[in-house]
Amino acid sequence: MKLVSLVGSLSLDSRTAKAQNVAAEAARKAGAEVEVWNLRERPLPIYDPENKVPNENVAAFIKAMDEADGFLIGSPEYHNGPTGALKNALDFVGYNQFNGKPVGLVAAAGGAVATNTLTQLATILRSLHGYVIPQTGSVTYSDNFNADGTFENPKLQERFEKIGTDVVALAKHLRG
Ligand SMILES: Cc1cc2nc3c(=O)[nH]c(=O)nc-3n(C[C@H](O)[C@H](O)[C@H](O)COP(=O)(O)O)c2cc1C
Repeated sequence: MKLVSLVGSLSLDSRTAKAQNVAAEAARKAGAEVEVWNLRERPLPIYDPENKVPNENVAAFIKAMDEADGFLIGSPEYHNGPTGALKNALDFVGYNQFNGKPVGLVAAAGGAVATNTLTQLATILRSLHGYVIPQTGSVTYSDNFNADGTFENPKLQERFEKIGTDVVALAKHLRG
């Protein structure tokens, strides 16, 4: 059982990445191997249908997404939607990678809740025939983390852990 955790923030101290890691850690505890794809460390070029030049990161990204049984996808809210970096990454993949696989969504906002980002991501992923799980999570500036990466607020810890465990449970179910 393999998941890819795709983080749509390039921030060095990304709240999205931190929150998503809580879900990823819970998925690992539930038995999944989770590969985190960080777009700062492994950037992808701007998707260009005319560009036929082989790119190591693009090839590795598509392979990881092909092989995944499910996904954690997260983004900060930028201008009421997901980041360009995340949307660009998703443009390299599609139905072939997402069809029939579960997707857990995570977001971060400066405002209270990244509702628009979560809704837009759900729309995008559903169009690719991913099964977007009902449990989603959004963090803001006042949601703090402990040194071990867990949330200070146990309710948030529980919420984000459930994203990870629900994706694993549904992936197992869908694989039969
Ligand atoms: C270009 C840009 C646009 C943003 N637009 C919004 C927005 O529309 N709504 C909002 O709540 N926060 C907005 N923010 C704040 C980010 O969502 C917030 O700082 C978030 O925690 C960043 O996530 P990260 O730490 O994972 O990079 C914006 C930030 C940037 C840089």
